[in-house]
Amino acid sequence: MYIVLLGPPGAGKGTQAQIIAREFGLTHVSSGDLFRENLKNQTELGKLAQGYMNRGELVPDDVTIAMVKERISRSDCANGALLDGFPRTPAQADALAGMLAELGGKVHCVPYISVPAEVLIERLGGRWTCPQCGRVYHEKYNPPRTAGVCDDDGATLIQRDDDKAETVERRIRVYMEQTMPLIEYYRRQGLLVEVDGTKSIEEVSRDILAAIRKG
Ligand code: AP5
Repeated sequence: MYIVLLGPPGAGKGTQAQIIAREFGLTHVSSGDLFRENLKNQTELGKLAQGYMNRGELVPDDVTIAMVKERISRSDCANGALLDGFPRTPAQADALAGMLAELGGKVHCVPYISVPAEVLIERLGGRWTCPQCGRVYHEKYNPPRTAGVCDDDGATLIQRDDDKAETVERRIRVYMEQTMPLIEYYRRQGLLVEVDGTKSIEEVSRDILAAIRKG
């Protein structure tokens, strides 16, 4: 079962991905996390992606597609995966269909988490992430038990470099121009299920899980 989580920056894709992946026993593949891991390890790919990420732009399709293809071809994705942040352009969506066909699979369902821009800005401004386990918090909506400390492993939480106000605005603009066409792309294929992302984290999870079970 391959699921694509679609939605603007800050919609809650990463938050929901952790819940859905656990529920269905799927591997969580986040293109943003893969780039950040490369950045941390100072690989050539990480160095290339850094400039694009800091500017809030998309990393070029050929580089992104090659990275995700390599990840999806590993054995833990053989029976399915939850894709978060990929695809983000029609070229990436076509490439994904080709990759999955090679694995004998296809996209099962595309939950689209819809959230208006003003809410996104507030969410990203208050986001804190665990650098160790990747768990995502919000200082107001989903705070850790102790401010600045991960509930799961006690690591000191960090804020992402690309969550600065001007970069967030650019990321939202880029999403509207380059990723929104995927809403129609997957709607035409009968795979899109729109979910109201302004509800609480628990309610959004419930709606997404119901959509996947039906899909
Ligand atoms: P990426 O890491 O994918 O970032 P993004 O898509 O911009 O999404 P985010 O991770 O910022 O947000 P999210 O939707 O996961 O929200 P979250 O759950 O954290 O990409 C980063 C960069 O990498 C890109 O800009 C690009 O440069 C590059 N890149 C990545 N993929 C690429 C691709 N395919 N092609 C090219 N380039 C690519 O939630 C946000 C906050 O809200 C949290 O604090 C959370 O606690 C809170 N929250 C979540 N849900 C709720 C709720 N229901 N109510 C209240 N608060 C909530």
